[in-house]
Amino acid sequence: MDLLLDIEQRLGEPLQAFTDLLFVMDKHGAILDCRFGDPSMYSDSFEKTREKTIQDFLSSEAGDRLNFHLSQARQVGKAASFEFPLMMEGRELWFDARLVRSSDSRFILSARDITKYKRTEGRLKRQLQRINALRSIDFAIASGLDLNLLLSILLDRVIETMHVDAAAVLLLDPKLNELTFASGKGFHTNILQHTRLKTGQGYAGRVALDRRIINIADLTKNKTEFERSPLFPSEKFVVYYGAPLIAKGRVLGVLEIFHRSHLHPDEDWMDFLNIISGQTAIAIDSAMMFKELQKSNFELSMAYNATIDAWSRTLDLRDRDIEGHTRRVTDITLRFATLAGIKDSDLIHIRRGATLHDIGKVAIPDEILFKPGPLDQDEWETMRQHPKYAVDLLSPIKYLEHAMEIPHWHHEKWDGTGYPDRLGGEEIPFSARLFALVDVYDALTSDRPYRRAWSKQDAVQYIENQSGKHFDPRLVPEFLNLVSANGY
Ligand code: C2E
Ligand code: SIN
Ligand code: SIN
Ligand code: FE
Repeated sequence: MDLLLDIEQRLGEPLQAFTDLLFVMDKHGAILDCRFGDPSMYSDSFEKTREKTIQDFLSSEAGDRLNFHLSQARQVGKAASFEFPLMMEGRELWFDARLVRSSDSRFILSARDITKYKRTEGRLKRQLQRINALRSIDFAIASGLDLNLLLSILLDRVIETMHVDAAAVLLLDPKLNELTFASGKGFHTNILQHTRLKTGQGYAGRVALDRRIINIADLTKNKTEFERSPLFPSEKFVVYYGAPLIAKGRVLGVLEIFHRSHLHPDEDWMDFLNIISGQTAIAIDSAMMFKELQKSNFELSMAYNATIDAWSRTLDLRDRDIEGHTRRVTDITLRFATLAGIKDSDLIHIRRGATLHDIGKVAIPDEILFKPGPLDQDEWETMRQHPKYAVDLLSPIKYLEHAMEIPHWHHEKWDGTGYPDRLGGEEIPFSARLFALVDVYDALTSDRPYRRAWSKQDAVQYIENQSGKHFDPRLVPEFLNLVSANGY
């Protein structure tokens, strides 16, 4: 067993400085001699190296690799480097090994203990994975997903990153002081779906009340605590963690983590549990805020529409003859706009604009508006102000800024002879060109204080005649199709 003496005498101290383990073996891996840099560390394990092969100490995977390198070194005479793990007294140690051939039948394996480096590397890998998980969650929060989808993504990340079997989120109803199930992943049964726990009740209820993480390291010894479902034991959970979800100082719920075998979480794992709980709380908070905002936007928009309808009814009430005109032109205009390819999202503005198109007439005196005959020049001057009055009236209202085209320009003409701005051709916004056709057709076929209704044929003929004069010639055929198809 003094094969190494020769080498040691030649290399002396430096060898000790560069290796932790040194083996001499034959071509099959049988150990002929060995040395340990720090004998106290390894000697117990290698006490009986006699009669053994180095493969006896290696996992089968690492043994295969060693065999491969041995045969390479034999055939090609090449030195090889590789890493391998060793189990020693229940601890996994990692070595960086170098294998060289010293003679036909002898090989020297020197190995350096890199366990510390490996652990750091593993820790860095896990930290990177956690950071990536957090970033993807941040991204999901920022994209304003709905809460269920958000929680589902989040729980997938929790399970994957924390290497646990199941996770769930319970949400706290602050009015009822009750936790209910919101989302879960990794369960075999639906035991948690009907969870209803008062704060203070059960593990989760205590988490919410105390605002602290609760850990049950062995659930099998705490059976009585799980009253949530008689099916609970069938999940065979061993470990429970409950973490409070707190945002802006309010408890929003509980993140629950379940594992079917024992867990040995390190400091990083616990840190991550804290961070992910904070993140989950933020996700819930922002999703709820988003929902609130949508709700209040919806309510606001209902209020707007009610206001608009109320205004236009005031006008209709005053001018009984145009009662129904507003509603009709609005309906037909929306249909025409859809056919003409106006985007759905713009239809709301078209609807509001059409409803309010003649709102400026509230400023026209009765004597003019209800005059049973033709208007004189002064009266016309006043009447032609009604689009301007509409702009004055509506422009301070922010939510109508995209609804102004029709009230403002519905009396402009394609040939530039209309009012109030004498716009021509495509200077006139599309919605106003489209609306003009509907407005005139409906006016002509209705009774007015100043004349009786025209027949439909006369109105159609008038529209055709005004194509390229009053009206956009490309829109006229489309409009007349719509009229005949719907019997307007
Ligand atoms: P309105 O009655 O709603 O008419 C809207 C548009 O339809 C008119 O815009 C005009 O382009 C067309 N229109 C309506 N009736 C006739 C008609 O008998 N013949 C022809 N060729 N076109 C017609 P316009 O002309 O700018 O008038 C705007 C508003 O002025 C009218 O809205 C109505 O309220 C009032 N108005 C127009 N003409 C008279 C009138 O002779 N007497 C009275 N009292 N008011 C009038
Ligand atoms: C490896 O290098 O694949 C092992 C890393 C580790 O388990 O720490
Ligand atoms: C828990 O809070 O996680 C368990 C409580 C119960 O099931 O009763
Ligand atoms: Fe008008």
